[in-house]
Amino acid sequence: KPTFTVGGKSFTAVAINTAAKAGEWIKLKLGTHERLTLKSTPHDLVTEVDKGSETMIRNLIKTHFPHHTILGEEGVAPGADASAKALETMKDNEYLWIVDPIDGTTNYVHGFPFFSVSIALAHRGEVIVGVVYDPCGDELFVAEKGKGAYLKGKRMQVSGEAKLSDSLIATGFPADSDFALPLNLKGVQAVAPKARNIRVAGSAALHMAYVAAGRLSGFWEIGLNSWDIAAGSLLVSEAGGRVTDTSGQPYTLAVRHVLATNGTVHDELQTTLSEAGATGA
Ligand code: IPD
Ligand code: CA
Ligand code: CA
Ligand code: CA
Repeated sequence: KPTFTVGGKSFTAVAINTAAKAGEWIKLKLGTHERLTLKSTPHDLVTEVDKGSETMIRNLIKTHFPHHTILGEEGVAPGADASAKALETMKDNEYLWIVDPIDGTTNYVHGFPFFSVSIALAHRGEVIVGVVYDPCGDELFVAEKGKGAYLKGKRMQVSGEAKLSDSLIATGFPADSDFALPLNLKGVQAVAPKARNIRVAGSAALHMAYVAAGRLSGFWEIGLNSWDIAAGSLLVSEAGGRVTDTSGQPYTLAVRHVLATNGTVHDELQTTLSEAGATGA
């Protein structure tokens, strides 16, 4: 399988090794965190393990690519537009790593074994590598632009479902309870009667990896940040799916209201959210 290289080092190999190391470490630390801090809202948590994971990831990336820029969730000021503000200052950087050191901190804190490490590399604003690692399930999802998406060495393919009524769909309940949460609840109210069922398992990145793996036919959520979505977006598109914002506009790093599907249920899900006034647009 060909890889992108700089100075003989593969971007993808570094992304995989880094996600695996950080993932193993957070799993080792599971249940032992000592400091739980609230960030922007009572639903927005951080522990010293999130911070330690991010530091480990930064150091590993910097060892290989000292001149690349790194955007990590715990490295920027908290708040609804945290990633948008940071991206604004980083958008001209050639290589940008986008890191979520634990996606699913609430699950992590409660010992609910569904969380992930998400690492993406963007070149001039376009995601070219995406890795999501689930340390509890020991599943590493990896994609390279133009080269497919893989799980345990096997190429991933999105599900074949053509209708919402045959589809398992996921969403999330965002930390921003003023704007994003009410919209997502509205979306759930509209989508639940039409879909086979809905899952809200608590890691946006892992939900998107599951769309890529064909385990879910779609995922949407209002009010995410680039680090929740960037790696997952490439997994889904390289597995043959489709990623837009909830209004159906093409995915960019600035997208916060994401819709990622197998492609065939995309329009039905998008229309359902639109008609419910639940796109956030
Ligand atoms: C959160 C998770 C969760 C989603 C929230 C995100 P975090 O990320 O992805 O599933 O519903 O909107 O903020 O804070 O655990 O990295
Ligand atoms: Ca967080
Ligand atoms: Ca996250
Ligand atoms: Ca996080």
